[in-house]
Amino acid sequence: MTQIVHLSDLHVSGAHFLADVAESVVQSINEISPDIVVVTGDLTQNGSHPEFKDAKEFIDRIDCRDKVIVPGNHDSRNVGYLFFEDFFGARSSCLYSSGVAVVGVDSSQPDIDDGHIGRDMYEWIAKNFETGSFRVFALHHHLIPVPMTGREEQIPVDSGDVLELLNHCDVDLVLCGHRHVPWVWRLDDMLVLNAGTACSNKIKARTTQCYNLIEIDDGDLRIYRVLPAGERELITLFDE
Ligand SMILES: [Fe+2]
Ligand SMILES: [Fe+2]
Repeated sequence: MTQIVHLSDLHVSGAHFLADVAESVVQSINEISPDIVVVTGDLTQNGSHPEFKDAKEFIDRIDCRDKVIVPGNHDSRNVGYLFFEDFFGARSSCLYSSGVAVVGVDSSQPDIDDGHIGRDMYEWIAKNFETGSFRVFALHHHLIPVPMTGREEQIPVDSGDVLELLNHCDVDLVLCGHRHVPWVWRLDDMLVLNAGTACSNKIKARTTQCYNLIEIDDGDLRIYRVLPAGERELITLFDE
């Protein structure tokens, strides 16, 4: 069995980061001991150096060798994408582990909240999905609208073309954040999974802080919504 933890929208800052909740998140993830951890952006609130430093310390405390981390719109504010590269490396990256291919892309633009992947990335994405028996695409922005988020906005401006590309690449799972509402859509054979905010006070409506746990187990796919202290609820089960 391969376990992937997907968390998002830490929003490290004096105003929004909940240190005690974050502590619970780290401990409960380390108890799971996942094979892969994916963090889909908004690590910081303002893209500042002190925020990135604290975000790096938080993510380093998660005991997992294989991590894919992409920036969010907040990380690209105030030229923060340069600090992202200093602390976490390339803004778009891929990982292959236990037959799982994870391709993460930077969907942010400096000081613009709208998502954008861009045509110049499509060939790179397709090439990196040439291997892997289970394919995961990760980005910050929501690729499909999410309910309970009010007026639709900031969805990637090229989301239609990206969805078609991912379908062409036989992607199994898309991991997104940004809207701070946990949700999952099934689109043909592809699941599009949104994470809530893991440890910030920027929750929407009746949601609470949470992250996702994905288990790929010999043809079965299970997705759990996990509360910071580790309590989990099965939200999706697919027998393939
Ligand atoms: Fe966010
Ligand atoms: Fe965001």
